[in-house]
Parts: sequence; structure tokens; C-alpha cells
Amino acid sequence: MAKKNIKKSWAEPFKIKVVEPIKVTTREHREKAAKVAGYNTFLLKSEDVYIDLLTDSGTNAMSDYQWAGMMLGDEAYAGSKNFYYLWNNVKKYYGMPYFVPTHQGRAAEHMISKILIKKGDYVPGNMYFTTTRLHQELAGATFVDVIIDEAHNPNDEHPFKGNIDLKKLDKLVKKVGADKIAYVSMAGPVNMAGGQPFSMDNLEKVYEYTKKHKIKLWFDATRACENAFFIKEREKGYKDKTIPQILKEMCKYFDGLWVSAKKDLMVNIGGFLATRNKKVYEEARNMVVVYEGLHTYGGLAGRDMEAMARGIEEMVEYENIRMRIKQVEYAGEQLAKYKIPMVKPFGGHAIFLDAKRILNHLSQDELPAQTLASEIFIDSGVRGMERGIVSAGRDPETGDHRRPKLELVRLTFPRRVYTQSHIDVMVESVASVYEDRKSIKGLKFVYEPKYLRFFQGRFEKLK
Ligand code: F0G
Repeated sequence: MAKKNIKKSWAEPFKIKVVEPIKVTTREHREKAAKVAGYNTFLLKSEDVYIDLLTDSGTNAMSDYQWAGMMLGDEAYAGSKNFYYLWNNVKKYYGMPYFVPTHQGRAAEHMISKILIKKGDYVPGNMYFTTTRLHQELAGATFVDVIIDEAHNPNDEHPFKGNIDLKKLDKLVKKVGADKIAYVSMAGPVNMAGGQPFSMDNLEKVYEYTKKHKIKLWFDATRACENAFFIKEREKGYKDKTIPQILKEMCKYFDGLWVSAKKDLMVNIGGFLATRNKKVYEEARNMVVVYEGLHTYGGLAGRDMEAMARGIEEMVEYENIRMRIKQVEYAGEQLAKYKIPMVKPFGGHAIFLDAKRILNHLSQDELPAQTLASEIFIDSGVRGMERGIVSAGRDPETGDHRRPKLELVRLTFPRRVYTQSHIDVMVESVASVYEDRKSIKGLKFVYEPKYLRFFQGRFEKLK
């Protein structure tokens, strides 16, 4: 029985069997490394990083069950048994009958955009994601953000900042006509908003609206289990439902979904597209042969598909997803003790530092989030990433910078990789950069690639 005045902590539902050494470097070393990398954390050598919070994508620790599965790879060119096992688990947990594997999420985004979009179409969505929007644009569509206003305000504590604003959606549909809407693109939780979930209630309303107007509804289910966990914790009527039940319930509203398996599924590589629409499936199954490989491997080895299939079984375990979310919450609570401005509520996969408020002496053109990410790296070797004006890129029509309201540094937690002590070290580093914030100067672009400029752009310190 739980005692009244004694807190009941969570703990990792695993013990550590294999370790990978990491290296503490000197400040001098990191200053040099940051300069060589053009002050872009994506261009750093991983060897120079101490605690890597760049992303939770493909950086997860697989379980012994997943690693054991890797030895059971059936590497036949066609019809591998791992493919059928994975397909079975996609049906079982996501409830989608048809499935095409891809090497990662953006390959699925590429295909679904090509299949569903005609030139001149519109794709409304709950805030953009970098690769998702680019594929929609390359296929000829215009992306329109229809997320609720609260999502653009880091201080708003709305529990479901990933919700779609039905009035915004309706306004667009009335303006361009339902036949010009290729599909509604709904992600959960919303990465760029700070890992914020949508509610089941909102999803149901969006579904009813799209059904009425004969508009397709597609799901970026990359971190769907995190969304399911937030629904269980925050939405009335879901406390006693299991994660698999909530995941299934979410998926039943969608025509189809795509997944970057490098997140929820805790593998190093993989993705897929799944749908209940046979025609879309047939097109995707044919298209995957052109871009990825035969439809029974889609750019993956048999062993990768086995690890994905097993990852699905683990991602829905309550203790596993709870540890994930609570670890992010722990990081947020520790940072809050130093009064660091952050996006609230804390997200599913990451803590988002509010660089606009932290470096409020810099204008958006002086790239506050890019600057903050590089300063944190120089301070301690902790690597995060920019999620602000650099990530937002340029408007393809006007060529101007897109100026998002959110100017953030994302500190992202790989699943099952770091301990609370690593988090404490990160927190102390952010706090010390925060203390010295007034002396920090901004950055300017010296090289800007055409697509997804945040990955490969290079910067120089302003004088
Ligand atoms: N959708 C979402 C919501 C994502 O977060 C990502 C990747 C993708 C799609 C694309 O998947 O990388 O497998 O091709 N996000 C990573 C991140 C890169 O760091 O947030 P991918």
C-alpha cells in the first residue's frame, strides 16, 4: 500500500546490459569544433558531443528482445518472414489492413504526397513539420497551418495544443473548395509546437467534418504512442483505457498513416505507410519499387523489419511510455527551478527552450535559437537543435524567410538512453548559459542550402 506522505517515483523499466562510453571534452575543444561545424549542431562530429539531445530519431536503445530479433533476419529479396510479422503487428496495433515499409518516415511522406496531391491543391495541417511540408510542396500543394492559436504561444498551458481549429479549417475549405483539399494532415504529438498532443475529442470532430465534406484525413503517427499516453493522462474517460486501446481508437478515424519508425518503435532505421484504402495501397506498393525497393522490404533489411515488429510490441507497454514522458517532465521540472523560459506544458519527446525570451536582446534575424543551441554545446558538450527561423526556411513563392512565432531550442530525449544524472548535467549547463545570456552575440548565415536549410546551413558569429 502506498504511504500517505511518501512520494511514489517512477523508474526506468529496465536495467543496463551494454554501455557505450561517452567523452567529456574541454571548452577549448568544443569552441573549435563549433566553429568548424559552422555553428550548426547538425554538422558537429558525434565524437565531440558529450550528451546528445539532438533528436530522438534513430538514436534509441533497442532492447535485448529487439537485438535478439536482429539475428533472425530473413534476408531473402522477396517475401521475407520478418515483413509478414511486421505487417501483422501493423494490423494488430494500428488497425490498418494495408502496409508498405520504407527506409524512414520521409520516404513514406514522399510517396503519400505524390499519390494524394495534384498541383494547386492545399494541405491543411496542425502546424508544419519540416520534411512533411517539403514533400507536400514538392508535390505541388500549399500547406496551410490550421492548428489552434494556443500552439503558437509557449506560455499557454492548454493540455491539447496539437488540436486543429475547426474554424480555420472551415475557412480554408470555404475559400478554396473541398475538392482542392488533397487531405488533412494531422500529427500527434505536434513536433514543432513542442511535442504537444491532440485530444480524441478534437480528432473525432475533425473526422466528422472531413467525412461530411468528403475530405481525406491522414495521420503522421510517428509518435502516436506519446499522444495516446497524453490522452490517457489528460482526457476525461481515458484513464482506464490501455495504450493499445487508445492507439487503435485514434487510428480508426484516419484513412491512412505514415510513421518514422525511428521514434516510437525504438529502432535505428525504418518507416512505413499504412492505410485502409486499397487503391492508395496499390499505388504505394507500386511506387515503393521505384524509390525504395520491393514492397516486401522497402529499403530495409529483414533484420530491421524484425526489430520494428518487436519495437511495436514494446512501444505500447505502459511502463515504457510512462518512463519516456516522465523523463522529459523531470528535465522540465529541473529547468523550471532555474526559471528557464520553456514551452509549456512539457512535450512528449523534448523540452523546448524559448530562445526568443532567453536571448531577448537578439532580433529574430540574429538567429536566437541557432545561437542558443551552439552556446549550450560550447558550454558543456550537450547538443540540441534549432527550431525557429532557420528550420522554418523560406516561402517558396516570395523567397522571404518564414518567421515563425516560436523560436526554440529543442533538447530531445532518445528513448532508454540517458539517466537522470545526464539530465542534471544538461540542466546545469542550460542554467549557466542562461546566467551569462546578456553577453551572447547572435549568428548570421554564411551558407544556405536550398532545401531544409537547418540541416546543412553554416553560420558565423556576429561581432
Ligand atoms: N514526421 C515527424 C513528426 C517527424 O518528427 C519526423 C522526423 C518525420 C516525420 C520524418 O521522419 O526522419 O524518419 O524521415 N523527425 C526527426 C526529428 C528528424 O528530429 O524530429 P524521418
